[in-house]
Amino acid sequence: MTHDPYDPEAAAKMAADRETQKLARQFFQKTYEHRYSYNFSWLGRPIIQYPQDVIALQEIIWRTRPGLIVETGVAHGGLTVFFASMLELLGGDGEVAGVDIEIRPHNRAAIEAHPLARRIRLIEGSSVDPKVTAQVAERAARKRPVMVVLDSNHSQAHVLAELQAYSPLVARGGYLVVMDTIVEWVDQRAFAERPWGRGDSPMSAVRQFLAVDDRFELDARIEEKLLITAAAGGYLLCVKD
Ligand SMILES: C[S@@+](CC[C@H](N)C(=O)[O-])C[C@H]1O[C@@H](n2cnc3c(N)ncnc32)[C@H](O)[C@@H]1O
Repeated sequence: MTHDPYDPEAAAKMAADRETQKLARQFFQKTYEHRYSYNFSWLGRPIIQYPQDVIALQEIIWRTRPGLIVETGVAHGGLTVFFASMLELLGGDGEVAGVDIEIRPHNRAAIEAHPLARRIRLIEGSSVDPKVTAQVAERAARKRPVMVVLDSNHSQAHVLAELQAYSPLVARGGYLVVMDTIVEWVDQRAFAERPWGRGDSPMSAVRQFLAVDDRFELDARIEEKLLITAAAGGYLLCVKD
């Protein structure tokens, strides 16, 4: 049973308050600089997220009850284990397909030794490699509905290719979440060594994707209430089969 005290009108009013928006954005910019998202763990594994987004993902999972959650970009496995823990709570036989171009041996060993490991399938390779997408599609054919969370290479071309490869797996009512869209907003010195940055980011990929796609739309209610989110503009709801 869900009791949700959330009041969409109050949240929309808060989101429209320019001063609140400005403070939220500043909080984000300052904490990003201090690598705030590296401070947390989930059931023993480092989870590189803002806690607000973890709450939002929990709400989506409880509401939409996915049978498969696809995560691109596993790193230490904290979000992977979070997804597995939610699927465990849902009952069923749901699983997580965690894709990473490089799963370091110590991370793999810790994820495989985790009490929730039986719900996790690790797939090593680039998330846009057809061999990898075929493995994910094969699992998606058996476990539905599918939810997708993109959190790997944050360049526009890569995220756009991921959106094209994984969006067909999500059916009406399901979510496709693009993390780290706020690469577009924060201090660009954070990405000096990275191939992505302002104008070449998950957010610019989402814009390009939504311009031609008619199956997904932004669920703005989620970011309205979060205010602080690394996935602004990235909570996409599938509205058409
Ligand atoms: C931001 S971390 C993921 C954080 C993780 N989702 C979490 O919440 O804790 C990004 C990961 O993406 C992986 N990655 C980079 N390029 C990739 C690619 N082409 N395909 C799959 N994974 C990739 C990196 O190896 C890294 O582990």
